[in-house]
Amino acid sequence: MDRLVNKRILLGVTGGIAAYKSADLVRRLQDAGADVRVVMTASAQEFITPLTMQALSGHPVHTDMLDPSAEAAMGHIELARWADLVLVAPASANFMARLAHGHGNDLLATLCLATGAPIAIAPAMNQQMWADSSTQKNLLILQEKGVHVFGPAAGSQACGDVGEGRMLEPMQILQSAAEVFEYQLLTGKHVVINAGPTREAIDPVRYITNKSSGKMGFALAELAAEAGAKVTLIAGPVNLPTPARVTRVDVTRAQEMFDACMETIESGCDIFIATAAVADYRPVVTADHKIKKSTEEVHITLVKNPDIVASVSGHAKRPFTVGFAAETQDVIAYATAKLSNKNLDMIATNDVSGQNVGFNSDNNALTVIWPNGHKVLPLASKRQIAKQLIELIAIRYRQ
Ligand code: PMT
Repeated sequence: MDRLVNKRILLGVTGGIAAYKSADLVRRLQDAGADVRVVMTASAQEFITPLTMQALSGHPVHTDMLDPSAEAAMGHIELARWADLVLVAPASANFMARLAHGHGNDLLATLCLATGAPIAIAPAMNQQMWADSSTQKNLLILQEKGVHVFGPAAGSQACGDVGEGRMLEPMQILQSAAEVFEYQLLTGKHVVINAGPTREAIDPVRYITNKSSGKMGFALAELAAEAGAKVTLIAGPVNLPTPARVTRVDVTRAQEMFDACMETIESGCDIFIATAAVADYRPVVTADHKIKKSTEEVHITLVKNPDIVASVSGHAKRPFTVGFAAETQDVIAYATAKLSNKNLDMIATNDVSGQNVGFNSDNNALTVIWPNGHKVLPLASKRQIAKQLIELIAIRYRQ
């Protein structure tokens, strides 16, 4: 089921008594980590209400191509593009016929025409309808078109007949849906990434921070999700949109970032990547009111913040731990010392003395170091660097 993590499933429900099982299927898909949106045909709504499916999926149910409010939220073409898999369960004989012959006479049929995603159907109908030569011809056409067909099963039917035509159970459909997707580099792994700066308040209007924009960490989060991982991104104060399929936790202070990281490590994480530029020190006291310019000098006493990545690597539930090092001199020597002092599995170091790499730039260049090895990732966009680094981390993690 790991393969369903982060996957976007468009669940089509057509008319049939098995439609009640679709409600359970929504839950099971979500439990497997998938994001589910539901489309119902008019006859499906005779068996189960859109409200039920909306409550379960947590999203409005799409029923009509000509509904302006639904189109405004996510138009049918957008929905067709959004899906990683269109799964029609139950698929009636009528729907199979329409799909086989390329009809676009309702929203679900149109979405099937408009999508580039794989399509899977779980047929459900009376055994005689299933055995009928027209249905069997349509089945062949659909199989030739590359549509995945899950089931049907044989057994006693709602109409009293016994034979082939029952929809598979939700767990069987779930298993088959997972098999549509290939294993990716990080399928089933939970990757936690911290990113951006932290802000340590001096008074209500002033703080200590640094130049980190969060771009490097956000790029890594995006690429880890694209590699099939479940990703939690713990972000300091940055001005960046959340990458698709990523769960974001916003924090401000180093202590908050520490707490958020520890919470995710406690709840289970496979790989931790520390790109954040955590403030090493914070003021001992944060003034309640704005400090006035009454004296020539102001002395602020600073105290060390907790070292987040070292605490992660020292945790009883230690994940594979990757640190970053931002250096301006003796880059490799300092980074190698941090690899060992912080008990890391890998460290990615960037020389941040230049203008076009590291802090707040769209580009970066890294030397990635691990015990007994290293690899240079030459200057490239942060997205390209993130792609290479995620591949390297996945390889080292498996080793
Ligand atoms: O955010 P961008 O603008 O895209 O810039 C990216 C970056 C330059 C911030 C990034 O590539 C980078 O180098 N991040 C690490 C910055 C840093 O704080 O390096 P450091 O050498 O001071 O710390 C070493 C490691 O310890 C880092 O993984 C850091 O997250 C971690 N650390 C440091 C202090 C602390 N209290 N807790 C920590 O976990």
